[in-house]
Parts: sequence; structure tokens; C-alpha cells
Amino acid sequence: MKMAKQSRAMPGPFSGLSVKIIMTIVIVILAVEVVIYLPSAAGYRTSWLDDRLRVGVVAARVLDAVPDAMNLPRMLTDRLLTSAGAQAIVYRHEGQSQLIELENAETPREAVTVDMRIRDPATQILGTLDTLFFGGDRIIRIVGEEIGQQERIVEILMSEAPLKAGLLGYSRNLLLLSLILAVITSAVLYVLVSRILILPIRRLTANMVGYRQAPENAALIVTPTARRDEIGIMEQELAAMETDIFSMLRQRRHLADLGLAVAKINHDLRNTLTSAQLLSDQVATLDDPKVQRLAPRLVQSMDRAVAFAQSVLDYGRQNVTPPRPVPVDLHLLLDEAAFDAGLVAHPAIRFVNAVPDAVSISVDPDQFARIFVNLLKNAREAFEANPNTVSPTLEVAIAETPESLTIAITDNGPGLPPRARENLFVAFEGSARPGGTGLGLAIARELTEAHGGKLAYVPQERGTRFEVTLPAATRVA
Ligand SMILES: Nc1ncnc2c1ncn2[C@@H]1O[C@H](COP(=O)(O)OP(=O)(O)OP(=O)(O)O)[C@@H](O)[C@H]1O
Ligand SMILES: [Mg+2]
Repeated sequence: MKMAKQSRAMPGPFSGLSVKIIMTIVIVILAVEVVIYLPSAAGYRTSWLDDRLRVGVVAARVLDAVPDAMNLPRMLTDRLLTSAGAQAIVYRHEGQSQLIELENAETPREAVTVDMRIRDPATQILGTLDTLFFGGDRIIRIVGEEIGQQERIVEILMSEAPLKAGLLGYSRNLLLLSLILAVITSAVLYVLVSRILILPIRRLTANMVGYRQAPENAALIVTPTARRDEIGIMEQELAAMETDIFSMLRQRRHLADLGLAVAKINHDLRNTLTSAQLLSDQVATLDDPKVQRLAPRLVQSMDRAVAFAQSVLDYGRQNVTPPRPVPVDLHLLLDEAAFDAGLVAHPAIRFVNAVPDAVSISVDPDQFARIFVNLLKNAREAFEANPNTVSPTLEVAIAETPESLTIAITDNGPGLPPRARENLFVAFEGSARPGGTGLGLAIARELTEAHGGKLAYVPQERGTRFEVTLPAATRVA
């Protein structure tokens, strides 16, 4: 496990998550306000115009009440008009129309008609936009009818300026209110969000960053709070993960230390045993009958002990180098392996190399020799441990498919003992024979896999079959 050690800086309080959240909130509130603004401004304008119209209606009633409106005192009509903010009021009913206007008012130039009898929202909003963008020094004609009296129409002519001023003031207030609302909302949300989300997340983030720097420091493992929501689960899971990593690292270190110690002990042991082996060889040559009886067993035990120490040493050392493939003649390689495995000219076992001549594969010759020697030696040892096997035969053959090349090593021996089958391919565990280290198959599998291949045990009715499967590309001729 290799870990990148560069550290990641934590984002400051105004970068990262919190700012993104606040910006989003403010933008959403302002967007909502824009959508709300138009209808409410239209509402403001409508009620403003309705107010004027109501005054106009009152004035019109007064006009209606007097028999001769034309001759009303000037002062009175002017007062009426001023109170309505109007320049002129026209009152139409039963086919007649009456007009009063301010004394010194020149007849209005063209006027923009605002018909208050049309009250759908679209018209009102369009009218509002019209007032806001084009209004100001125009004259408007507000047309409406007396409530419940459809044929009595009142028209008021007046300047648009006060309406626009009112509308602008209203908009300004609304904008100010929205801003205040946005600020308050985002402040409240900020506090909430940062307490509930951001601070705990920052704590976890800081912990992860810190822990990765020093995963062997148990004090850095996060302490989960009592929360039961997603953040709480995150804290608990992180704590569990960090605890696991901590113990895994510690275990790994211990194992590495142990391995080193074993290698040292083993090395010394092998040297001592080798000296003892030399001695025991000499002892075996003594004439004493007692010695003659015991010596072979002593020599055998010494040999086994030395072999064991040697293979443990080899296992510790082996296989750090990746395979260096070169074209190898498979038939020849197998013959050599059979020789090394003690199968050539064996008194009992018949070895059949069924691989045709001139099959060339691209593999590391040393490593592949080791694979085959291990497999063939296992078979020989199994046969020798069961001397009453009928015509003991060991055969190696190949089979090819477009994708792969399979080398099968088959014997008609006793088959795998159950104890070996359980831990097959597990180093130091797989052995089921006296004096075995249980490394042969583990090493063979490791080496095959380093070549992109597979080593598999294929169950048989009788005997044992192992298959080395290689990618078809391994075959070069
Ligand atoms: N062809 C076979 N027939 C019967 N049993 C076998 C055969 N090959 C392997 N075994 C069994 O599988 C076990 C594991 O084999 P492996 O080669 O991994 O270890 P080992 O031979 O005991 O020790 P090492 O090879 O390290 O000296 C053997 O002990 C043996 O019992
Ligand atoms: Mg073996």
C-alpha cells in the first residue's frame, strides 16, 4: 500500500461549501422576488388608479346632482378637480356627457387611455411596464364606470407623473424589503446550515486530511458524535474505517518485523544444520552397529531440516523479479524438469512427455522450470508414498484453444489427500506429507500468475491433474 503524502489545504471560511450555499440562497430569493414583483407592482398601480376613479365618481355625482353643471361656480369645480388630482373629468350617462376642467388648463394634448374596465392580469402588468418605462410627462385618461351602473362612464384626465412616482417609490421599498429579507434569510440559513452541515463536514474533512498524514496515530481517529442522521453515519463509518486501517497497518508492520526475524533465525538455523549435516554424514560412516542402525534416520532428518530451512529462505527471497520471457522449447523444458524432479530412469514411475517437439513458448525458463519441477516432484513423492499403485504413470500434455494454451500434468496416483485440498496453493498450509513445507504449489501458482496464466487443480476420479493455462499469445511457434 503506497500512499500519496501530499496534503490538501482546507478551504477557508469564505470559500468552499458555505459560500456556495449562501450564494444560492440569495440568488433564489432575489429570483423569487423578481417573479413576485410584477404582479404586486401591477396591483399597486390598479389600486392607485381605482382611488382616483373613486374621487372622479364622487365629483361626477356632484355634477349630476346640480341641474346646470356648466354654471357651477368656477371655484367649486376647480376644488373638485384638484381634490381628484385631475385636469378634467368627463361624465357620460344616458347619451349625454358633461365636462368640467381646470380653468387655465389648455385642452389636453393626446392622452393615453387606461381602461379600468379591463382587469385581467396581463393587461395590468403590461400597463405597469408601460408606465415605468414610457410614463412620466404623459397625460392619462382613466376610464371607468360607476360600480353597478354600467352605462355611467367616468373619464378622468390627469398627469401620469404622480402615478409613476408612486410606482417607483413602491418598487424601491419592495427592493429594499427583498434585500433585507434575503440578508436575514441567508444569515439564519447560514447559521443553521453551518451548524448542522458545514461544521461537522469540515471537522470530518480536517480529520481525513490529518489522519492520512499519520495513519499510525490512533489519537487521530475521529470520535463520532451522537447524531443519527447521514452525517452521524458518516462519522461512525469513518471512525470504523480509520480503526480498521490503523489495526491493518499495525498488523502489517508486525508481520513484516516477524518475517524479518524469521528470515534471520532461519538463516542461522540453516548454517548450523548444514554443519550438523556434515557431522551426521561422517557419523554414518562409523562401523558401530548401533550407529549404523540410527544413522540413516539421523541423516534423513538432517536432510529434511536443511531442505526446509532452505525453502523457507527461498520463499522469502523469491519472485521479487518479474519474469523475463524468452522463447523456450516446451518439450525440452519438461524433460529437464523431469530430470530435476528425479523422474528420469525412475525404477517404478513411467514419465510420458506428450508435448510435441518444436512447441515454443515465450516464458521465463527458470521460473517455468520451477513450476514444472514442483508439480512433477509432488507426483513422484505421492507415488513413492504409495508404492502399491498399479503401473504408476505421469503424463504431461498440451491442449490449445484460440484463447489459451493448457499444459496438463496428470498422474494416476493416490489423488490429493483431503487435508491438502483444503489449503491448496496456500503457502506453508497446503502440505499433507511428512517433510513437506507446503510451498511448492503456492510458488507454482504465483509464478504462473506472474506470466498472466493460471494454475488450477482439476478434480479427477482417480489420480491428480493440474493444469497450467497460459494466454494463447505465449505460444511463439
Ligand atoms: N500429484 C499429487 N498427488 C497427490 N498429492 C499431491 C499431489 N500434488 C500435491 N499433492 C499434495 O498437496 C500437498 C501440497 O503440495 P505442495 O507442493 O504445495 O507442498 P509440499 O509438496 O508438501 O511441500 P514442498 O513442495 O514445499 O516441499 C502435498 O503435501 C501433497 O499432499
Ligand atoms: Mg511439493
